[in-house]
Amino acid sequence: MKKVLISTITTLAFLCAVAIGASADQKIVGFSQVDNQNPWRLAETESIKSEAKARGYKLKYSDGQAVQANQIAAVRDFIAQGVDGIILAPKTSTGWEPVLKEAQEAKIPVVLVDRDIEAPKDLVVTFIGSDFVLEGEMIAKMMIEDLGEGPLRVAELQGQPGADPTIDRKKGFENIINKYPKIEITMSQTGEFNRTQGKQVMEAFLQAAGDEIDVVYAHNDDMAIGAIQAIKEYGKKPGKDIYVASIDGVRDAFVAMMAGELNSVVECTPLMGPSAFDAMEAAWRGEELPDWIVNKDDAFRSKDVDQTVLDSRKY
Ligand code: AHR
Repeated sequence: MKKVLISTITTLAFLCAVAIGASADQKIVGFSQVDNQNPWRLAETESIKSEAKARGYKLKYSDGQAVQANQIAAVRDFIAQGVDGIILAPKTSTGWEPVLKEAQEAKIPVVLVDRDIEAPKDLVVTFIGSDFVLEGEMIAKMMIEDLGEGPLRVAELQGQPGADPTIDRKKGFENIINKYPKIEITMSQTGEFNRTQGKQVMEAFLQAAGDEIDVVYAHNDDMAIGAIQAIKEYGKKPGKDIYVASIDGVRDAFVAMMAGELNSVVECTPLMGPSAFDAMEAAWRGEELPDWIVNKDDAFRSKDVDQTVLDSRKY
């Protein structure tokens, strides 16, 4: 009888663990992602998911579908579920303080990945991400090296309004071109960091002044790829009639560089899983981390890209 009881209790405990999807001693981490509307973001999601699995953590995943309110609700939900840690890839740079204070009060560490926010630094463990101002500066410098000091008329495809990379990639590009009076941004609009809207905005730019665009500066590769399609449909040659530059370094961008349709790309790595979980584990051990762990990014030109380079890309 005693034997039967013990075995029943063991079975019940096992079933409970299965029901919540984790073993009793398994750490649970919530990941709130902005959206999954381009290959860069899919690569970031995959990096976080596979690293959680490799380290034996249970990951609760939420796709914010490009709406900040969804992300705030997801973080609140993670707190209510009592997760051990939260990884947050925030859409915009403002509006996070109240929910982060709730996480802090619940003693749940929050690791920020890929986009920084405007909030007191002690609300998060650290921010892991690229230097977006530097990326914008690198793009502008490559463009000037390739095309000279002007006159150049630049059409800018901005990322999501209010997002850290949108603000800083614009700032970095302008830091450099403002030193050259004959280079100016003549058109600028958001393409929301996705291919469809990048293409639509580029079509509108071309309709408005197709013969007065020398350069397209897209805040990410996906919008550049949409713009390349629009330029072709308009009857011009991207990469030749119009210089195209963008940021991210996704595989499709390397394919476009090999085809000579995308001139220059600055990398921005989405592979944040390992560093995000290193930071989380450090927080669990009570260690202090720097406010910003900076990812290092490379730059590429179309002429440097061949099949070997393409094959070496990890995302
Ligand atoms: O925050 C990084 C940016 O966001 C990437 O450049 C872009 O592709 C993504 O959606």
